[in-house]
Parts: sequence; structure tokens; C-alpha cells
Amino acid sequence: MTVTPCSGNHKQRLFVGEGNFSFTEAFIQKHDAKWGHAPTQSLGRSIWATELQPPDSLNGNGEATARIDRLKEKGVFILFGVDGAALHAEQTLDGKKFPRIHWNCPHDGSQYQKQSLPPIIEAFFQSCRKMQSPQDRVHITLAQPTPPPSKPKNLKEFYQGMIYDIVRASTLAGYKLIKKRVFGQERYPEYHHTQTVTSAEAPVIKQGMREFVFEQIPDDLFTSTMKKILCSVTEQKDHAQINACTKPNDLRSIFDRCGEEKRNTTVSILAEETSQTSSKKISICKGTFGGHTRCYFYCSSDNDSSDGEK
Ligand SMILES: C[S@@+](CC[C@H](N)C(=O)[O-])C[C@H]1O[C@@H](n2cnc3c(N)ncnc32)[C@H](O)[C@@H]1O
Repeated sequence: MTVTPCSGNHKQRLFVGEGNFSFTEAFIQKHDAKWGHAPTQSLGRSIWATELQPPDSLNGNGEATARIDRLKEKGVFILFGVDGAALHAEQTLDGKKFPRIHWNCPHDGSQYQKQSLPPIIEAFFQSCRKMQSPQDRVHITLAQPTPPPSKPKNLKEFYQGMIYDIVRASTLAGYKLIKKRVFGQERYPEYHHTQTVTSAEAPVIKQGMREFVFEQIPDDLFTSTMKKILCSVTEQKDHAQINACTKPNDLRSIFDRCGEEKRNTTVSILAEETSQTSSKKISICKGTFGGHTRCYFYCSSDNDSSDGEK
């Protein structure tokens, strides 16, 4: 296979919740080394790397502070105080479009029983939709631990469904899963994961992470598919109102009015239909976690790890 050299015309990328910014550095390092880019041509010039916490959250972390200086020299735009759940409301990013948005290991530091993380992930995808165009991609890396013998076997599914509720968040914002890849230091040697609040490495991360790559579905296709599904789960009297909707957002209030069972059915059918158009074979499965019925993605392989994007 012939590989076309990188022209240096890189896609604009937005990194969210970067913590110690080691992924940003590792990502740039890998690309620049592969293509022999001089600093003036660095991939860093097309990257906006952000974190929710203020800069003083890094006080005492000399390594991260020095890293940020190196990144700025490579042309990276560094921003603090950026909320992944409201990217479109961030003034500095106003009007900008990002063909690629990445968030590795999103977490708000709370216990999963509180269920505060799924709404953040859902708002993140909704916000990405406002910052992207059809076929643009969201890369989100999630803990996918291989269970130790003492733990239940469905730990990966539990993380997808209960910790993040990733199928619901991505599907309701009109994104389809196109790839799932192994993620970690094998791909990005300089990446050092940090936990929210404590900055230590989360033990679960050592047990496995996967990068889920989603692609935005165009408005018209998303709207027509959602309409068809809502009509199939709701009563006849609601159909005229559903059919009158022209945008995904108009349909959202109708979706929200449905009971939990109908909402779950809508999400699973929508995810199933949209994933059928992916080149990768993906199934949508359902499980019950802590009394909640949730969907999760099942792909037969995690090994699509091509990093050749520019
Ligand atoms: C588990 S850490 C992962 C940090 C880094 N991405 C990594 O992979 O090592 C989760 C990160 O998400 C950030 N975070 C939490 N809630 C956020 C939000 N609403 N918007 C943006 N970042 C958020 C935290 O401050 C933290 O840096």
C-alpha cells in the first residue's frame, strides 16, 4: 500500500479535559516524528488543548507546567476552564469548527451511584454537534477493564452502560460508532493518565482502555430516522406532531416526554439503525445494571488501530 506523505495541512482538533496534557504531547510527538515535521510544520499548530480546572490546579506539578510551555512553543492553543458539556458556549472557541474532538477518560470525580457523569457525556456530544459538521468525528476514550477473576464478567459493559451511558449520549446527538481501538501507552508512550481530583493513575485504567470513534450523521438523515422510530414507539395521536418536526432538536422534547421504557427502546433502535451504516460490524446490546436497563456497543474486534489520520 502506498502511503501519501503528510502535507502539513492538518485538521483542527479540540482536546477536552486534558488533565496533565500528556496526551496532547504524545499525540503531536507521534505524528511529527512519523512525518519528520519541523517545529514550524508541527501538528501542534492545529490543536486546541483544554482542561476544565484552572491553571493553578497544576501548581506543584512541575512536569505538567514544563510540558505546557513546550506545547505552546509547538503552536498549541492551551485553554483552562473549558467545560466539555458546553463547548459551544466557550467564548474563545466561538464560531470555530473542529473536524476532530477528543476526550480521553472523561470523569467528574463522583461515585457512579450518583449518575452525574452520564448527563455530562450526553451534553458533551450535544455540544460537539454544534461545533462540527456531518462526517466529523468525536474520539472518546473509555475505561474498558478486563475483569479480574474476583469481579463480575460484564465489567466492560457495566462501564459503557452504567458509568458513561455512551450509547444513549452518542446516539441522541446523532453520532454513529465507526471504530473502536485499543488505547494506551503502546500507542502513545508519553501519555500518562491522571485521575480527576487526585491526579493519581486510576487502577481501572491499567485493566484496559478503548478509544471509541464516532462520526456525525447529517441532520436530514438523523431527523428522518428519529421520526420513523418515534412514530413506531408512540401513539397515533402524536404522529402529526412528530412528522411536523424538521430538526433533531424539535424531536427531543417529544422523546423526553416518553416514558423510560419507550426512551430506551428509541435509543436502542436508533443506535442499531445508524450503526448498520458503519463499515465495522457493531451490535447494540442491552443489560441491566443496578436496576437500570442500558445499551452498550459490542464489536467483535478492537484491533482497528490505524493512526494514519492527518
Ligand atoms: C480521569 S481525568 C482524565 C484526564 C486526561 N484526559 C487523561 O486521560 O489522563 C478526567 C478529566 O476530565 C476533566 N473534566 C471533568 N469534568 C469535565 C467537564 N465537564 N469538562 C471538561 N473536563 C472535565 C477533569 O478535570 C480531568 O482532567
